Amino acid sequence: MKYIVVTGGVVSGLGKGVTISSMGRLLQACGLRVTAIKIDPYLNVDAGTMSPFEHGEVFVLNDGGETDLDLGNYERFLSLELTQDHNITTGKVYRHVILQERRGDYLGKTVQVVPHITNEIQDWIERTAKIPTSEDGEEADVCLIEVGGTVGDIESSVFLEALRQFQFRVGPENFILCFVSLVPILSDEQKTKPTQHGVKDLRSLGLSPSVIFCRCTEELLGPTRQKISDFCHVPAEHVLSVHDVKNVYQVPILLQQQNLHLILEKHLQISKMTKPDLGAWALMANAMAQWSETVQICLIGKYTGLQDSYLSVIKALRHAAIACQHKLDLQWVEATDLENDVEEAWDKVRNCQGIIVPGGFGNRGFDGKVLAAKYCRENNKPYLGVCLGFQAVVVEYCRNVLNMTGANSTEFDEKSDYPVVFFMPEIDKTTMGGNMRLGSRVTKFTHAQFDDGSTSVLKRLYKNKESIHERHRHRYEVNPEYVDQIHEGGLKLVGRDETGERMEVAELPGHPYYVGVQYHPEFKSRPLNPSPPFHGLVLAAIGKLDAYLEEETMLLGN
Ligand SMILES: *[C@@H]1O[C@H](CO)[C@@H](O)[C@H](O)[C@H]1NC(C)=O
Ligand SMILES: *[C@@H]1O[C@H](CO)[C@@H](O)[C@H](O)[C@H]1NC(C)=O
Ligand SMILES: *[C@@H]1O[C@H](CO)[C@@H](O)[C@H](O)[C@H]1NC(C)=O
Repeated sequence: MKYIVVTGGVVSGLGKGVTISSMGRLLQACGLRVTAIKIDPYLNVDAGTMSPFEHGEVFVLNDGGETDLDLGNYERFLSLELTQDHNITTGKVYRHVILQERRGDYLGKTVQVVPHITNEIQDWIERTAKIPTSEDGEEADVCLIEVGGTVGDIESSVFLEALRQFQFRVGPENFILCFVSLVPILSDEQKTKPTQHGVKDLRSLGLSPSVIFCRCTEELLGPTRQKISDFCHVPAEHVLSVHDVKNVYQVPILLQQQNLHLILEKHLQISKMTKPDLGAWALMANAMAQWSETVQICLIGKYTGLQDSYLSVIKALRHAAIACQHKLDLQWVEATDLENDVEEAWDKVRNCQGIIVPGGFGNRGFDGKVLAAKYCRENNKPYLGVCLGFQAVVVEYCRNVLNMTGANSTEFDEKSDYPVVFFMPEIDKTTMGGNMRLGSRVTKFTHAQFDDGSTSVLKRLYKNKESIHERHRHRYEVNPEYVDQIHEGGLKLVGRDETGERMEVAELPGHPYYVGVQYHPEFKSRPLNPSPPFHGLVLAAIGKLDAYLEEETMLLGN
């Protein structure tokens, strides 16, 4: 296993994650399997309890791990499926060591940061790097390790010490350290001092970077590169310019042009590397810049001021737009504004080409989402509801079509006469308590064949598979008592879990696109492989859904 460790200096938010995933993408283009680990110097043990205000969205992994958006970025860019262990935090490591100490594993010895914590970190890295994460289920050749925080923080020092030891544990030909730095431009001059200081700090910890990535608004000039090379003890070719480009998908191309793959091949003595071929990825990155048509989608949510909490949803919309060769024009609408009849909000809903209602938290704005679902149903506007947006579809249909006055979710109204969405926790056999339904679960298209002989649009978007796996994060769901009534009443509940008790997919036949899904398809969307429900929304928004489905049917040969 080859390890590429990346640290950052100067400031956070430099795009370290994009740089690292781009390096990974380039290595994949050279025929290597890549995995990724994120080290976060926080004391938190998982992200489930963290506020979306402070941390952006909670990203859900296959195994139910709740992490922040960085692991999501790796999964998307590199088409990986990561686990909870791929996020190492100070809290997790200390907890592990303290539990071992309580069990008496250290035989009464004094337990210390060095060597016990630092050893545990190294063991954790070696163990996790071996977990297969690529689509073919094979072990990776290269493990990328991002160290969060900036060099010099008190928090990250224990991890840097562990990594200093790690380079000897695995040997110099299996370890390379990279440093991501900022080169600011002040009065037209590219400044190298911050980089020099960052590297100096690293060296004082016994770590010496072999490659320096310089984030800059403009391309690094020859003399700047030379100066950094002179002061930081790396060859000038190992100082890479990561300047602003038209879209993030172009960064792997940028790194390839500067021969990063050759540098890594030589240092890490990788024998099985092929000539890089970014193929479809490069075509996409370059073509995107030229598209002129836009598709306008309206996102109805809460805290729309805080766009990070919908990051995966936005990415999934982008991926779908890419597949349709359109630019995405995203409009934001606060759900409560629809309840309060704010004209501007309703104008956006009326004028856009499609509506997305993503998952949400808390009470505020649910009725606004229900109103949006009603508008779309009555006006043939493409609609996709995710999680709470799916529940809004069910509640709306019960209220307005099935005449269940006051139908509601018990999450918001415990005493509703028609509790069509209610609390149905997953029973955990070990604790006997009710738990949130988290992580990958199966959905079966058991009710996807309609009386008129047609097949569910969503099933067809999933290439006519009988069952699919998507990620979940919810406690409330459609009340099984009402399922038959709703399904017979016209809102087809086409996809269900393996027991048939839990409703996963609703769709309205005869509508251009009216779909709700209980799971979160956005987590498995990839730039070159958009999530089917999102792809369907964008296709319907630009009026190409039928043509697409027909072509797919022909390709599948039925
Ligand atoms: C890893 O988990 C910690 C603790 O929950 C969290 O603070 C951090 O944001 C997570 N990092 C990633 C990349 O998910
Ligand atoms: C709901 O009420 C309307 C108006 O009274 C009626 O036309 C419709 O048939 C009713 N629908 C159902 C499912 O009972
Ligand atoms: C549903 O419940 C919420 C929360 O109690 C309430 O604000 C809303 O008015 C209810 N909707 C209907 C149609 O009863």
